[in-house]
Amino acid sequence: MKTLLITGGAGFIGSHVVRLFVNKYPDYKIVNLDKLTYAGNLENLADIEGAKNYIFEKGDITDEAYIFDLFKKYAFDGVIHLAAESHVDRSISNPMEFVKTNIFGTVTLLNAAKENWKDNFEDKLFYHISTDEVFGSLDDGGFFTETTSYDPQSPYSASKAGSDHFVRAYANTYGLPVIVSNCSNNYGPNQFPEKLIPLFINNIRNNKSLPVYGKGENVRDWLYVEDHAKAIDVLYHKGKKGETYNIGGFNEWKNLDLIKVVCKVMDKKLGREEGTSEKLITYVTDRAGHDLRYAIDANKIMKELGWKPSLQFEEGIAKTIDWYMENEEWMKNVTSGAYQQYYDEMYDKRD
Ligand code: NAD
Ligand code: TYD
Repeated sequence: MKTLLITGGAGFIGSHVVRLFVNKYPDYKIVNLDKLTYAGNLENLADIEGAKNYIFEKGDITDEAYIFDLFKKYAFDGVIHLAAESHVDRSISNPMEFVKTNIFGTVTLLNAAKENWKDNFEDKLFYHISTDEVFGSLDDGGFFTETTSYDPQSPYSASKAGSDHFVRAYANTYGLPVIVSNCSNNYGPNQFPEKLIPLFINNIRNNKSLPVYGKGENVRDWLYVEDHAKAIDVLYHKGKKGETYNIGGFNEWKNLDLIKVVCKVMDKKLGREEGTSEKLITYVTDRAGHDLRYAIDANKIMKELGWKPSLQFEEGIAKTIDWYMENEEWMKNVTSGAYQQYYDEMYDKRD
C-alpha cells in the first residue's frame, strides 16, 4: 500500500487531484494536508469525506516541527505538493506571504522528505506542482518549453520560481527523487472567485461590473482543471524522476475574447438578451507588471506519456458555467465566508 501526501488538497486544483486519487486508487492512503487559508474549502471534497482511504490533516507547510512529525506519523511514500499562495493580485499587495508559503513551505517539505527518505530514495517521489508563469511573458510569439529560461515577473511567479529551483537543487545536491510540472491557467469547478472566470461568472449573475485590466489584450492558455489532475496522475505514476514537464491545453485566448464567450453563454443561461452581459464590461487600471502572454508547448508529456486534454474549450467552459450556476450555495458560502466554518462543524466536533 502506498501512503501519499497531497498538500493544498482543499484548494481549487488540489481538490480535483485528491478526488481523482481517492476514487482511482482505493489501495492508497491519501493524506490531504491543508492550512485552510481563505483559498482552502473542505466543501470542495464533501463527496469523498467518508472514503476509507482518505484522511484530512489541518496544518501549515511552514511549521517545521509539525511537518516532521507528520512524515514520522505516516511514513509517506510520495508527496504531491500543491499548497501555495496562488493569486497574482494578492502577491502584489502582500509578497511576504508568498515567500513564506511558496518558498519556505516548500523547503520545509523538501527537508522532511530528504530526512525521512535518505536511507532509501527508491520508490519515493517528491512531485512539485508549478506554473508556466515562472517563464515570464511571451511578448513576441513562440511557446514556453521545458528548456525555456526562467524569467518570473510577479512576486507570485518569483516565489514559484524560487520553489522550483529549490526542488531541483535538492535533486542535484541530495539525490532526492523529484518531478516538476509547469501548467498553464486552469479553469473549472471550485475555483475561488478572485480569479478571472469564476469572478466574472458570479458578477454577471449578480449584474455587477466586469473589471477588465488594461485593454483586455493579455493572452492566457486555458486548461480544464480535471485535465490537469489527470496529467498529475500520469506524471506521478509514469513521469521520469528528475525531469520537468509542461502541461497546457494549446488553447490561447485573449482576455477580452474569452470574457465575451463567458458573457454570451451566461446570457443564454440567464435568458437575457444577447449582449446584455457584455454591457457590464468596465476597463480598469491595468495590473502592475501584467504579463502579456503565456503559451505552453505540452508536446513532451503528450508524446512521451500519451496525456492529452480531453475537453475542448467550448465544452469545458459550458461545463464550468453550468457548475457555478448549479452550485449557487457553494458560491454564496465562499463569498460570505461561511465555508470557513465547515472544518469546525465537520471535524472539530468529531474530536
Ligand atoms: P488555491 O489557492 O486554490 O489553493 C491553494 C491551497 O493551498 C488552499 O487550499 C490553501 O488553503 C492551501 N495552503 C495555502 N498556504 C498553505 C500553507 N502554508 N500550508 C498548507 N496549506 C496551504 O490554488 P490552486 O489554484 O489550486 O493552485 C494549486 C497549485 O497549482 C499551486 O501550487 C499553484 O501555484 C499551481 N498552479 C495553479 C494554476 C492555476 O491556474 N490555478 C496553474 C498552474 C499551477
Ligand atoms: P487570473 O485569473 O488572476 O490568472 P493569472 O493572473 O494567474 O493569469 O487572471 C487571468 C487574466 O485575467 C490575467 O491576464 C488578468 C486578467 N484579469 C482581469 O482582467 N480582471 C480581473 O478581475 C482578474 C481577476 C483578472
